[in-house]
Amino acid sequence: MCPPRFFAVDYAINPWMDPTQPASAEVAMEQWTVLRDTYRRLGHTVEEIDPEPGLPDMVFAANSGTVVAGRVLGSRFRAPQRTAEAEYFRRWFVEHGYRDITMPEKINEAEGDFAWTGTLLLAGTGFRTDPAAHAEAQEVLGVPVISLHLVDARYYHLDTALFVLSEATDTRRAQIAYYPDAFSPGSRRVLERLFPDAVLADAADAECFGLNGVSDGRNVVLPVEATGLAARLEKQGYAPVFVDISELRKAGGGPKCCTMEIRKG
Ligand code: ARG
Repeated sequence: MCPPRFFAVDYAINPWMDPTQPASAEVAMEQWTVLRDTYRRLGHTVEEIDPEPGLPDMVFAANSGTVVAGRVLGSRFRAPQRTAEAEYFRRWFVEHGYRDITMPEKINEAEGDFAWTGTLLLAGTGFRTDPAAHAEAQEVLGVPVISLHLVDARYYHLDTALFVLSEATDTRRAQIAYYPDAFSPGSRRVLERLFPDAVLADAADAECFGLNGVSDGRNVVLPVEATGLAARLEKQGYAPVFVDISELRKAGGGPKCCTMEIRKG
């Protein structure tokens, strides 16, 4: 995670960002701190990277790396405003002992568009990540990649429209939640085939960034407004944990965007 010390909405690269509206680094920092402490309270290890001045979106650490079984695939941003972030994260991995690090050739916004189910890497395209980056990820990480097409600009990254509730080494047992309307008809059919028991989100769940949740298989960290989705998850045995991310949402981000999940083993 990266503390949002230099958070701002200075440019607009997604429909949520409005540089004419006020955004506060102080409030973002308070909300981020609660999110970080929530993970710690739930028993997870959180490591931090230093933020850099002039990179207001660096708080969205999920966009800077995909790590599966200790292998790191770095990122390459579409927007010039974010390009420099990738190198800071690459250095962080080097300094923290990671040796299998590949920087992509194709535009690749990492966990913004990649979600690991335990056997498959679900991969979004349409707004940010280049479809050719899906094949590149498959080759670098050595895991099967399923390409999914996003069609609604508000849900420009896969992690704004879908998240993994529980990983499993048997594809049929992994569980996901997603908002069908954010996907093309073909991609919806792929998701129905692979995940017939998925939790389906509605427009209200998606609009508050409810699909930008982070689950450890039991606890599901969600924006405080995602009450409808939370109720459905509770019925399935999950424990929703609410956080306020209203300031971060002004940049088009939520809990998951702030969180890169490092899978060492
Ligand atoms: N302002 C950032 C952008 O548009 C937000 C990124 C949110 N991150 C995410 N994983 N969806 O790139």
